Amino acid sequence: MRILLFGSRGMLGSDLQKEFEDSGHEVMGVDREEVDITHGPNIADVFHTIEPEVVINATGYTDVDGAETNREAAFALNSEAVKYLAEAAAAVSAKFVHISTEMVFDGDNKSGYNETTEPHAVNVYGESKAAGEKHVLVYESGGYLVRTSWLYGKFSQRGKPRGLNFIETMIKLANEKPEVKVVNDQFGKLTSTKDLAQAITQLISGGYIPGIYHLVNEGVASWYDVAKEIWQRCGLKATLQPISSSEYPSIAKRPKYSVLVNTKFPPLRPWQQALADYLS
Ligand SMILES: NC(=O)c1ccc[n+]([C@@H]2O[C@H](COP(=O)([O-])OP(=O)(O)OC[C@H]3O[C@@H](n4cnc5c(N)ncnc54)[C@H](OP(=O)(O)O)[C@@H]3O)[C@@H](O)[C@H]2O)c1
Repeated sequence: MRILLFGSRGMLGSDLQKEFEDSGHEVMGVDREEVDITHGPNIADVFHTIEPEVVINATGYTDVDGAETNREAAFALNSEAVKYLAEAAAAVSAKFVHISTEMVFDGDNKSGYNETTEPHAVNVYGESKAAGEKHVLVYESGGYLVRTSWLYGKFSQRGKPRGLNFIETMIKLANEKPEVKVVNDQFGKLTSTKDLAQAITQLISGGYIPGIYHLVNEGVASWYDVAKEIWQRCGLKATLQPISSSEYPSIAKRPKYSVLVNTKFPPLRPWQQALADYLS
């Protein structure tokens, strides 16, 4: 398939680029350097270059705290730009795959959120992503809205030092400090960008019908549970201390129980296995 990938140098985008190439697809990856997608007219040229059958949006204004004071910028990329991409994809009859987040939900439901739950965000980032979701499923050419959560991967998030995801941050802190404190009252599904990229490759080539998909590694954990697993697997010596969110204040409110339930796609492997693979 001919794939046009936006956000190809981000944390997820880098794994998507690799996975598509390894699976034999023709992929053209672009990022902000080539096309700033918040300016609609910029987008058309790149569509002519590759004439895509599938368009993937792995861009995102992903600074959750920053969005609280940069609402306009968050909405420009996470909502308005999604509209431009969805329209452009529909104009060439390409499938459109958009990546969204568990943060479109409030995190108050301990049973989690399946594909039919209506979004209700508790912070600006979540609101902007929920607004973007509305543009994905409107065209007949086919929209795939992929929600995922708590991503980590071997490529870095843009703007962050190389590889400084939650896992690497924990290892770094454990090597620098006698004690590391991690919140034990926010729960979610830790997901590997490598596993997610493989699942998205299956989604676009496996005959799945357009719609909403929750693609996450299986198993619910708190950030403290994740840290504990890292400590055990890496034999870290620092003391690991569970704390509550109130002891680690952040600018944006975080959902407490942001658990995505996947009822439509073959389950991804448990998060512990994916993490072991990453650490090996
Ligand atoms: N990270 C998570 O835990 C997580 C969880 C759930 C869902 N998601 C979603 O997954 C997607 C990918 O996340 P990620 O963590 O891989 O993000 P990321 O590493 O921050 O990558 C996002 C990419 O988008 C690019 N971009 C930003 N503004 C742009 C613009 N105006 N035009 C074109 N490209 C632009 C960025 O380039 P610059 O560096 O130049 O800005 C960057 O390469 C996002 O939609 C995010 O909401 C992430």
